[in-house]
Amino acid sequence: MSQQLLLSFKKDVSLIEPEETEQLVLQSSNRSLTFKQARSGLKTALKTLADGGATLVELNQMVQQDDGNFLALRFYVYLQKFSNLGWLCHSVLAEGKAIAIAVPITSDYQFPYTEVAVNSKYMLSRFTYCHQVSGQLLLESPLSQTQVLLLDWKGTALFSQLAKPYSCHELVTGIPGISLETVKQFVSLLLSTQMLSEASEDGTIQEQANTTLAQWEFHDLLFHTRSRLGRHANPSGGTYRFSGKIEPIPALKPRMSEEAIELYKPDLETLKTTEASFTQILEARKSIREYGETPITAQQLGEFLYRVARVKQLIQTERTEIAQRPYPSGGALYELELYLAINSCDRIPSGLYHYHPLAHQLCRISDRTETVEALLDDARQSIGQQSMPQVLIVIAARFQRLAWKYESMAYAVMLKHVGILYQTMYLVATAMELAPCGLGHGNSDSFTKATGCDYYAETSVGEFALGSQVKA
Ligand SMILES: Cc1cc2nc3c(=O)[nH]c(=O)nc-3n(C[C@H](O)[C@H](O)[C@H](O)COP(=O)(O)O)c2cc1C
Repeated sequence: MSQQLLLSFKKDVSLIEPEETEQLVLQSSNRSLTFKQARSGLKTALKTLADGGATLVELNQMVQQDDGNFLALRFYVYLQKFSNLGWLCHSVLAEGKAIAIAVPITSDYQFPYTEVAVNSKYMLSRFTYCHQVSGQLLLESPLSQTQVLLLDWKGTALFSQLAKPYSCHELVTGIPGISLETVKQFVSLLLSTQMLSEASEDGTIQEQANTTLAQWEFHDLLFHTRSRLGRHANPSGGTYRFSGKIEPIPALKPRMSEEAIELYKPDLETLKTTEASFTQILEARKSIREYGETPITAQQLGEFLYRVARVKQLIQTERTEIAQRPYPSGGALYELELYLAINSCDRIPSGLYHYHPLAHQLCRISDRTETVEALLDDARQSIGQQSMPQVLIVIAARFQRLAWKYESMAYAVMLKHVGILYQTMYLVATAMELAPCGLGHGNSDSFTKATGCDYYAETSVGEFALGSQVKA
């Protein structure tokens, strides 16, 4: 444990003294610890931790003075327990004032205090980032179980210097009015919270030699850690945090144009008895990137869309409107919309359309504009073929359908839905002997340009190429 860093309880840990007892209770949102007969030294130390904090030496003196050596030793065990519970914050002081504080964000937590060597060089991890939260600068990293609040310009100055390898001695000379002790404490704090590492002679840090970490991109690891449970304390799940503040958007996107093409509806009862078995379809499914000379027909496209994505029913619940469709969706919220960039389709003119899933119509958005052409061309390149897909299905998400209900996990749920929809499209296309291929890439800016959608309200999250098969 650090001798110099200031120790204090996290804000959500409160100290309660039940009346007419010698008890002391420490209470957090999910745990409480009761000290049945707290002696005066322990009481003072715990009150100090709850009220601004003190260094380990100071806390130890408080207990030793009033309760003796044995209880002072026991106090270390308590401190370790508080640390493991994620209750202890560690602050760096400069002239008695905290310039940075590390706050645990998980409950099963270790603060492996690591001393720095003044002549060794240290550099920030590429996963460490700084952003503004409630008017304060916050350092976070998907590798860390803590957040570090920068409380003063000195902390910010040190942080920015550490983008390159520096020793504590070099850092002192670069920042006016800062002491070596403060620099050492600051570097120790970031080292102990996995926000920086020691740099070797060639200026690289250990993280760069780790071949597992090397294959994580910053945004992927951050997204992973923040959208899964575990390495954060953010609310997660169906929290409905905008309920009563922002109106939820309806299940059905308003019609995008009055110029609509009625689509063919297949007879599902006949299909149930005539079509190949599920196992035959599942086993026959494959990606097909070449297309027949005779393009897909309007009837086939109608049948495909009906079987994949129609709205079977809209249901008004107490909180929001949900739906039933052929594929599953978290919360039955169905945020995904289908747009069709038609290159060639018998009886449907080339251009861009939105699929109206309740009316089972294609609403025309535009002709085959330059941007629509760019979307089709991107798809052609993705499938690595000379020929363009006859139909490019662009999947877009109305993000707020999910974000209104789900916290921490909305985008991750949406990506799961895209995968579900891909497989549904693959299987229906296989059953219909069409040529399906999921695509991994697409340009969301081109999509918003082509449709006029607000990028933050609805943009593309997946693409699927479809066409007729080459006749055997
Ligand atoms: C999410 C996803 C993205 C894909 N992206 C592409 C792509 O951009 N280009 C392509 O030609 N195939 C793409 N595919 C198809 C895969 O290459 C194909 O599924 C894989 O090679 C297995 O072959 P199979 O589908 O014939 O079983 C993608 C498939 C999925 C599920």
